[in-house]
Amino acid sequence: MVGLVKCGDQLYPRIPTAAGTNNACGASLVKQDKPAANVILPRVKRMIEIRHLRKEFDDNTIPLKDVNVTINNGDVISIIGPSGTGKSTLLRCINMLTEPTSGEIIVDGQDITARGCNLNEVRKKMGMVFQSFNLFGHLTVIENIMNPQITLLGRSRQEAFDKAMYLLTQVGLATKVFSYPDELSGGQQQRIAIARTLAMDPDIILFDEPTSALDPSMIGEVQSVIKLLAKTGRTMMIVTHEMDFARKISNRVLFMADGVIYEEGTPKQIFDHPQKELTRKFVQRLTTLSYKIDSTEFDFEAMNEELQAYGEKLLIEAERLTKLSLAIEEICINNIANYSDNPFILVKIEYSEKQDTLYLSVKYKAEEHFTPRESESKLFLLLLDEPTTSVSEKKLTDDPDGCEYQIDMSFKWVEE
Ligand SMILES: Nc1ncnc2c1ncn2[C@@H]1O[C@H](COP(=O)(O)OP(=O)(O)OP(=O)(O)O)[C@@H](O)[C@H]1O
Ligand SMILES: [Mg+2]
Repeated sequence: MVGLVKCGDQLYPRIPTAAGTNNACGASLVKQDKPAANVILPRVKRMIEIRHLRKEFDDNTIPLKDVNVTINNGDVISIIGPSGTGKSTLLRCINMLTEPTSGEIIVDGQDITARGCNLNEVRKKMGMVFQSFNLFGHLTVIENIMNPQITLLGRSRQEAFDKAMYLLTQVGLATKVFSYPDELSGGQQQRIAIARTLAMDPDIILFDEPTSALDPSMIGEVQSVIKLLAKTGRTMMIVTHEMDFARKISNRVLFMADGVIYEEGTPKQIFDHPQKELTRKFVQRLTTLSYKIDSTEFDFEAMNEELQAYGEKLLIEAERLTKLSLAIEEICINNIANYSDNPFILVKIEYSEKQDTLYLSVKYKAEEHFTPRESESKLFLLLLDEPTTSVSEKKLTDDPDGCEYQIDMSFKWVEE
């Protein structure tokens, strides 16, 4: 059963949580039921074929030398690789925002690099979500989502409105219909941008680092929307630096380096058993450390030793590691674990080379909530006041691990 959500004077379908809940608005974020055993499945359809793609910029930068890859219908592809290796350029070539120098890109059987190809028609099949949201600041949320449907797809205002409302409800923002983008958080703006893309019913969605401009505390809400989408069978390509996310969401991972798809495979192959040297080095540098603290006997010393080794591998300065370690000890050991005989705390440590920032995320179940700024440790409070440190906290609802609260910290490095 699909429930209804009231918005203004109208009722709209609630975000479906079970399989196969389609409705009048057409789209469903949720996977359809599996076909019966006697149904013959269609052959895998090639959605995008890229052959010998090359891009040279005027200043002789050649990010793409010879890219060859086939994307099948329903593939969810993560594209990873060091900064400057042409990941964005590849996505921009796929929807012809950047014109390739040579090579072919065949989308759903049509060579979009061929002369005379109607790019407007091709672009209707694809949506792109950018790091910087690209919403129109002078338009309200609903206008941002309705306008392209009316101008590019010729939908009536009513159809465009219904579709926009349905999608806003799906991304959890039906109450923001008449807000302007700058009245929303980054995470909310990106969810609006995703709804706007979905409103165009694209077969393929290209995401270029959809969460990298967001505060750490907002990354999760946008990732959840993309994860739901990934289950709909839509073809998706996502450039991301978040390896955990790439691992969970995609069926294939492309590692780009040296102007080519240097290595590709399943997330397990690329992250756990990379075959080539460059891939191995890259993946090693992006590993996330995760810990579960579910006993008061948790071995904090062993964790600290691992942190040191992690820091050495990633060339993170000792001073920053000390700060991280102090934060973990104060938040987890001295406070949250102290509140209960059966603590349940999930700690994640991640380093972003691009932003030169070390992230700490602590999720936990507890009757009492720990507010970092109310800590009794003077050293910890001094740490919070440093301009290179940031802290945020939030209450969680429907967390897959059953956690109730989350504290996020980040430690930047600024050279004196
Ligand atoms: N319009 C342009 N003109 C000239 N050079 C460009 C242009 N766009 C990108 N480049 C260069 O092409 C290379 C690849 O850029 P691209 O943005 O595709 O890399 P990326 O892998 O997406 O990097 P990042 O992870 O930092 O986003 C870079 O050296 C970049 O400076
Ligand atoms: Mg990029």
